[in-house]
Amino acid sequence: MNDLFSAPLPPTATVKRHAQLVALIRHHNQRYFAEDAPEISDADYDALFHELKALEATHPSLITPDSPTQRVGAANPEATAKRTFQTRAHLVPMQSLDNAFSVADAAAFVQRVQKFLGVADATVQAMPELLLEPKIDGLSCSLTYIDGQLSHALTRGDGQTGEDITPNLRALLNAQGAKKVGFPPQLHGVNPPSLVEIRGELFMAEAAFATLNAQQLAADDKPFANARNAAAGSVRQLNPAITAARPLQFLAYALGALEEGPSLPTHAAELAQLAAWGCTVVPAQSLHTLTDLETAYTHWQQHRWEKVPYAVDGLVYKINDKALQQRLGQLARTPRWAIAHKFPAAEATTQVLGIDVQIGRTGKATPVARLAPVVVGGVTVTNATLHNADHVAALDVRVGDTVFVQRAGDVIPQITSAVLAKRPSESTPWVFPSACPACQQPLSRAEGEADHRCLNHATCPAQMLEILRHAVSRSALDMEGLGEKQLEKLLAEGLVRTLADLFTLANHAATIQQWPGFGATSVANLLAAIHKARTPTLPRLLVALGIPQVGTQTATDLAHHTGTLATLMQLAAEDPAKLEAIDGIGPTVAANLHSFFTHPSNLALIGQLTANGVQPQAYAPPARQSGPFSGQTVVLTGTLARLTRAEAKARLLAQGAKVTGSVSASTHWLIYGEAPGSKLTDAQRLGVPCLTEADFLARLET
Ligand code: IVH
Repeated sequence: MNDLFSAPLPPTATVKRHAQLVALIRHHNQRYFAEDAPEISDADYDALFHELKALEATHPSLITPDSPTQRVGAANPEATAKRTFQTRAHLVPMQSLDNAFSVADAAAFVQRVQKFLGVADATVQAMPELLLEPKIDGLSCSLTYIDGQLSHALTRGDGQTGEDITPNLRALLNAQGAKKVGFPPQLHGVNPPSLVEIRGELFMAEAAFATLNAQQLAADDKPFANARNAAAGSVRQLNPAITAARPLQFLAYALGALEEGPSLPTHAAELAQLAAWGCTVVPAQSLHTLTDLETAYTHWQQHRWEKVPYAVDGLVYKINDKALQQRLGQLARTPRWAIAHKFPAAEATTQVLGIDVQIGRTGKATPVARLAPVVVGGVTVTNATLHNADHVAALDVRVGDTVFVQRAGDVIPQITSAVLAKRPSESTPWVFPSACPACQQPLSRAEGEADHRCLNHATCPAQMLEILRHAVSRSALDMEGLGEKQLEKLLAEGLVRTLADLFTLANHAATIQQWPGFGATSVANLLAAIHKARTPTLPRLLVALGIPQVGTQTATDLAHHTGTLATLMQLAAEDPAKLEAIDGIGPTVAANLHSFFTHPSNLALIGQLTANGVQPQAYAPPARQSGPFSGQTVVLTGTLARLTRAEAKARLLAQGAKVTGSVSASTHWLIYGEAPGSKLTDAQRLGVPCLTEADFLARLET
């Protein structure tokens, strides 16, 4: 493609080249738009397209109405150059589910629920009713109906914002009908709610998936690895006509926002309402004891294909009573009132081709087995983590060994054992390398530690890459278009050394555009993503900084209590003990924050980020119900009788209160139960108003 404009082509060659370009672009359109399986980079595609446009500009007689340059709409590569969908916020966030891998884990979930709710006698009899549903292996989707009419359809996205797939689902509905697809264009019944978000799973039944794959093969197209991938690939099409032809179905399993709708006191009532509105609803079964749960689990695990015609990767248990659900509330990503109980991992055997060491962003060296590709539970596995030197030694995994590989759902594949009978006679135990594979500095293992580390934090390229990968990831600055390959190239070319350097890339756009794989379109998209990341929320920026043990939840707690980066930095540097007063921040995190915000290189990085225009948004606490404790700092002490401590805290947080661990002059309220101890006397001495549990409950209800 480099000889693009080098010499004017003679007419026959021009005609030939034109035909060739049209065919090539059509082929790549099909690979990309129809099959979700592009063969060339955006940049190479752009180059072909520009070559075609240039040819047609000099030889307008070549232009035909069906030339790729003349087509408008979804399949017009310039209109859809950015391979993404419009995004839109969910009114109620779409959460994920915590996982249980055994009946014991499920029992522990029940116990946590009982403890949180303060069921004094945490016995089987006291288990709140659970509804069991299959966990459908598809992709979640939220359908919004306004005054009963389907308004829009979103994917889960990052949970807060989803991708708008409305045209695709409308086309599907029109082509296949509501009955087959599982949701109506218009809710059935009179008096629909003024707004409702209906949540469920889009999936492909196993038989339909097999037929689709047979068609793919017959048409010489790549088959999908499993029904889930086929469903996801079919939904995320830029051309709705392709989605419409795919055998996609929807099963509803929850409500999101509901305005001016019926009152639904249980999850079972919600499911019944969803069915009455005309949705196909996930099958559900009531559980009253742990024995019920265990029996149902065993039965589902053994007979899942007789029970339902689609892939199920576990069961979901949900507390049926919505009032209890509300009391239990949620963590950052998952509700406390539901759990997914996964079916056991799929297993296969394969050969270890090699053992590499990967360096993480803190320098941790993790041995990883490179495996001969093997399909485990529908997914091709090519490597498995070996965690650390002790783990390798305990398994005695060696290069050349045949090993058992397990995979459960989205969990990282694990090697469970080596097949000794198949071990090559010349094999020797694996030895941890003494040097970092990325920077060749020595790897060291501190006394009493399980991990080897590369201590070259300043210049080790592997650490730099991982730091940047973490910083641009979805839960941090969420910079689309900056994958591993792009970051590697930017590091290798020396354009980027730190996170702050990413914000100077606009100055280098012309250089980057020359690199193979970075066309004008991808560079423009990249710069747009970087520009957007200049005003992250404070929690996202904190996550991006990579402070040890500061993930989304901790970052949100910190932002909620300090409001600005400057306040947090000052507290961390000067008075980290104050951070420990924030509920959920322990001494280790406080110490990590202190050392992070006093280390000169981190301060330099923050200075550089600011200089490059990065300015976190003013922290806006999530929309919460308002109440008498909104914005107030509250301390809880002593044993409460009617609420558990966790529940009291959750109720306060829901109103936007700050719950801290120690009383000071800035505490607004102390709430005390039995045996309050010194916090009550401290509060009285400081003149902080004190509430009994009864006073507290009375105020909560006002
Ligand atoms: S409920 C707040 N019910 O599993 C609870 N999810 O790991 C939201 N899923 O993102 C989810 N079947 O895509 C729920 N019966 C079911 C489900 C189900 C499949 C998926 C869903 C969700 C993921 C969570």
